Amino acid sequence: MSGYEEQEYTKNIDVRMWIKIIKMMSRYRREMILLTISMILLSLTDTMYPRMNKYAIDTFIAEGDFNGFPVFVAIYMLLIASSTFFIYYFIRLSGKLESFVVYLMRQIGFNRLQELSFSYYDKTPVGWIMARMTSDAQRIGDIISWGLQDLIYGFAFMIFILINMFTINVKLSLIIVAVFPVLVVVSFYFQKIILKNHRAVRKFNSKITGAYNEGINGARTTKALTREELNFGEFKELSGGMRKASIRAAVISSIYTPIVIALGSVSVGLILWFGGVEYQNALISFGTFSVFIAYAIQIYEPVQQIAGVFSEFQSAQAAAERTIQLIETEPDIVDKEEIIAVYGDSVNPKPENWPPINGEIEFKHVDFNYKTGEKVLEDFNLHVKAGERIALVGETGAGKSTIVNLICRFYEPTGGQILIDGVDYRERSQIWLRSNLGYVLQTPHLFSGTVAENIRYAKMDATDEEVREAAKTVRAYDFIMNLGNGFDTEVGEGGNRLSTGQRQLVSFARAIIANPRIFVLDEATSSVDTETERMIQQAVDIVLSGRTSFIVAHRLSTIRSCDRILLIHDGKIMEAGNHKQLIKLRGAYYNLYTNQFMQEAENRILNERF
Ligand SMILES: Nc1ncnc2c1ncn2[C@@H]1O[C@H](COP(=O)(O)OP(=O)(O)OP(=O)(O)O)[C@@H](O)[C@H]1O
Ligand SMILES: [Mg+2]
Repeated sequence: MSGYEEQEYTKNIDVRMWIKIIKMMSRYRREMILLTISMILLSLTDTMYPRMNKYAIDTFIAEGDFNGFPVFVAIYMLLIASSTFFIYYFIRLSGKLESFVVYLMRQIGFNRLQELSFSYYDKTPVGWIMARMTSDAQRIGDIISWGLQDLIYGFAFMIFILINMFTINVKLSLIIVAVFPVLVVVSFYFQKIILKNHRAVRKFNSKITGAYNEGINGARTTKALTREELNFGEFKELSGGMRKASIRAAVISSIYTPIVIALGSVSVGLILWFGGVEYQNALISFGTFSVFIAYAIQIYEPVQQIAGVFSEFQSAQAAAERTIQLIETEPDIVDKEEIIAVYGDSVNPKPENWPPINGEIEFKHVDFNYKTGEKVLEDFNLHVKAGERIALVGETGAGKSTIVNLICRFYEPTGGQILIDGVDYRERSQIWLRSNLGYVLQTPHLFSGTVAENIRYAKMDATDEEVREAAKTVRAYDFIMNLGNGFDTEVGEGGNRLSTGQRQLVSFARAIIANPRIFVLDEATSSVDTETERMIQQAVDIVLSGRTSFIVAHRLSTIRSCDRILLIHDGKIMEAGNHKQLIKLRGAYYNLYTNQFMQEAENRILNERF
């Protein structure tokens, strides 16, 4: 289970937050205003029909006076025509607005996700983020376009009915209005309970999405560990909970509707009774009597509608809050205002102001801990000359990846400084560093697309020739040409159609295509066959030469030619020197190396055929 619990939310509608969202939509102001106007006009025409009928009954039927008939027919036709037009217009506009809003929310969210630092992804499950960007964005679009419009229509409709009623007959109006509070209380009460159940349903839903996500991503591991039975049990429990909550919501809805209908009948009954008496006493016309029956029925619609929309707003509130929470998350690593002013940002870079990079790197009393954990580095010091090749070795969890992630500024030191060419890297911009940096992460990620697209990813304007050259440099050319479609071969999601070694070679090509001054390679722990290993080793030698480079090595054979090997233990440098020096030292590196060497020799012998 993800362990990332949904936050609890306030029960009342948070108007300020909705205003915030509507403000975000300010570029669609025109559509929103037009929608509001068309809803008000539609509700006005809709309330005019009973009034027209009253006129027809009183004038044409009761009095037999047909003088105004042609005008009446003309007005009636006009009303029908305008209702038809407004209905067409609002459905079109709402549909358009809905897709605009969803698109905008997703765009804003996606941009923010690009800016957020590594640390955000450490603590936020992918399934959670996906749900925000898909179903929550959809919900917000839905409520902003359809919900808001229902609300406007409902209120306008109610006001126009009240105006119509009171201008016709105050006493009968008061009778209808008397039943009103009961209806309002009942409606809001039920909507609240229904909402609570919907919320429970959604909570289960988001947990189920998370479980799906983990289930799918981890399908192979699950199979390998034969955990299917257990996982299925957990899933069954979740979907069972969701079913129960859904049924409860449906049952409550089914009680609510008949109650409202009954209340409506009560007020129609009251009008029949009082209105009937008034009519018989000739205090009101038959037209008036009929218009009140119509209004008594009609006025229930907007109350139900408004109560429904309110509760929809409440339930969409959680979606909106979570989305806002994502959008408003500040990246941990940001450039200072004055630095952006000079260097530009990723949208608007100003490379003409960037100082050239030499590649000298210094860790000065660096402390570091991940948000969730204890200190990984404490008073860590290291000085690397420009062009020096550094290897980091050490047991798992020693802090090797942490050190190189700090160099890349995926994380920043919690204490001390990292200097590049003698200047704290926080005094320069992230894009300045990234544009001079090639890195291959421990889990190299390829995007679904072709091999060429993946290599070009680090330099979008690279020519086909440059892509081929990069592949040749890292000795990946031959294997790529042997793939079905050469450079146009699809690599699959995450590159899963390539072997681990092949994926690494493609990431190498991607890392060097922009000819970076600093190169970082966090070698994958998984083993590759000897042939690929030889290819990778050759590639590494080529890639490292002439750049300041850091290589986290698990296969020690790849680093013999490095200028300096650092043996990291528990976040500290235990031994440092080149391969020969460390072997002579006969310390931890010596042990590591001879162990691995013997292991490999043993494997070779065991794999030999007799
Ligand atoms: N994203 C993270 N969030 C919290 N703690 C982390 C994170 N990444 C690493 N750690 C912790 O920091 C310490 C150093 O981890 P690091 O990944 O740097 O080790 P490593 O030397 O690269 O190991 P390996 O050889 O397995 O790759 C470990 O205790 C690890 O549990
Ligand atoms: Mg690591």
